[in-house]
Amino acid sequence: MDTVAAVNPDDLQKEALAAVAAATTVAELDDVRVRYLGRKSELKLALREVRDRESGMALNAAREAIEAAVDARERELERAELDRTIREDKVDVTMPGRRKPRGHLHLITQVRREVEDLFVGMGYEVVDGREVETAHYLFDALNMAPNHITRSPVHSFYVGEDTLLRTETSPSQIHTMEARQPPIYMVSLGRVYRRDAPEATKYPIFHQVEGLAIDRGITLADLKGTLRTLLRRLFGEEREAKFVTHFFPFTEPSMEVLVSCFLCDGVGCSLCKYSGWIEIGGSGMVDPNVLRFVGYDPEEVSGFAFGWGLERMAILRHGLPDIRDLWADDLRFLEQF
Ligand code: DAH
Repeated sequence: MDTVAAVNPDDLQKEALAAVAAATTVAELDDVRVRYLGRKSELKLALREVRDRESGMALNAAREAIEAAVDARERELERAELDRTIREDKVDVTMPGRRKPRGHLHLITQVRREVEDLFVGMGYEVVDGREVETAHYLFDALNMAPNHITRSPVHSFYVGEDTLLRTETSPSQIHTMEARQPPIYMVSLGRVYRRDAPEATKYPIFHQVEGLAIDRGITLADLKGTLRTLLRRLFGEEREAKFVTHFFPFTEPSMEVLVSCFLCDGVGCSLCKYSGWIEIGGSGMVDPNVLRFVGYDPEEVSGFAFGWGLERMAILRHGLPDIRDLWADDLRFLEQF
């Protein structure tokens, strides 16, 4: 049978144009295009089989007419669909927006920045320290005895014979004093490392804020006034501070600083272990040996220093039961702050 003869280009064109006109969506039109112009359409098959010039021209003319009709109808339908979208998909600008989830700073970073801001507000400078220190800066320059317990690798993380991860931020005092001359008012905040097994109240890494003020005529009153101000900003303006004799090799006299319990207001509760006071950290007047070590004259200048733990502040302020939560990367915990 002669397949070419079976196709009548005029009929086919008429049928196709009717189908194009009847298509009411772009998707329907696509079906029509496939049916009449696709690779397996009657027209394409006939074109492939065609032998004589005349039927070839007739078939091609039909193809061109159908293509033109499809294109024109496509533009029409697209415009109509766009019109409808514009008409129907109106944006209600009064609807509440969808909130994008946003991260925030870790609690310890928040405390750190808060303390930094407080001291910058009092005219102090924020100084970077070093996390890896030599025994010289960590112990000798801080007036620690040759047999001081934290020199032992049992207590501290050594990375070389004489170098170790700092166990406290105090060496930043020495670096600062070596680098410049008084007056010095600086704080230095960062991580410290101790070989402690993780417990509810201990972690081998934690953060300290170190403070140092060196000037002519600095007295214990300056220390008390400054640290009392800090405590009130952190724990509430009605808080009292208490200074209790203590020992640190690099200060003389040395004092433990306590704040009146902000939970029971000093009456006695489980947070303050029924004493009315909560221990915050160490402080003292810089030992003359330390001043001499960096080439300062203790007859000329004096100063005070302090070193407090940031985790401890965070725990106290938020009543956290376990310091390890601060390192667990559990968003359900961290998102609360
Ligand atoms: N470095 C001490 C510690 O880690 C804390 C400390 C106490 C720092 C007294 C000081 C200070 O600067 O004066 O336990």
